[in-house]
Amino acid sequence: METDSLRADSEPCDSCAMMRESSRRICATGHQGVPRAVKVAVVYESRTGNTAHVAEMIGAAVQELGHEVGIWPTEKANLDYLTDADMVFLGTWTGGIIVTGHHPGDGGKLLAMPGIWGKPTAGFMTYALHAGKVLDKMSDIVTLLGGVWLGGRLFKRGKLDEGLASFVVAALDAAEASLGVAS
Ligand SMILES: Cc1cc2nc3c(=O)[nH]c(=O)nc-3n(C[C@H](O)[C@H](O)[C@H](O)COP(=O)(O)O)c2cc1C
Repeated sequence: METDSLRADSEPCDSCAMMRESSRRICATGHQGVPRAVKVAVVYESRTGNTAHVAEMIGAAVQELGHEVGIWPTEKANLDYLTDADMVFLGTWTGGIIVTGHHPGDGGKLLAMPGIWGKPTAGFMTYALHAGKVLDKMSDIVTLLGGVWLGGRLFKRGKLDEGLASFVVAALDAAEASLGVAS
């Protein structure tokens, strides 16, 4: 699967008016605005607050869609909740020397995180100017942790909410497909 593949179409959804970027594909069949509730964990690393902010916005969007959500930095993740979660959003910042060497920031802390074995996992990463193919490296981390990579999205500093709603809807849809849950 392509890494930056969690892009929904731009067609607005008639049922989910608040998710203006959600796709008709997601909502066309038997969709009543809120699919079966899933338990979602949002876990992240953040040094200066950008990725933490995206994590909070993802959590709010997930909740708005009627799902249960818990949000933590990696070292504070609630292991019981995480173990029980249906899917995970895993996020961090982009490290590198701007034009090259892009890697998930604090990747060691992400790799030390337990509890996502077998779980559908979407990646989210913030960056300042250039992030290159950093999502590929995020996908490697998720795979090493035993998670099932759904795809990911980059969020540029200063425009952190751009594309966020469609990302959340597409990730939930991919997770539900992976779990065999009908929306
Ligand atoms: C050591 C370091 C290296 C960075 N390298 C890059 C880079 O190569 N490309 C880029 O776009 N941003 C780079 N950034 C910027 C961060 O990825 C960006 O500000 C991010 O949003 C920070 O997230 P946070 O606020 O959650 O810590 C770097 C930041 C730091 C601290």
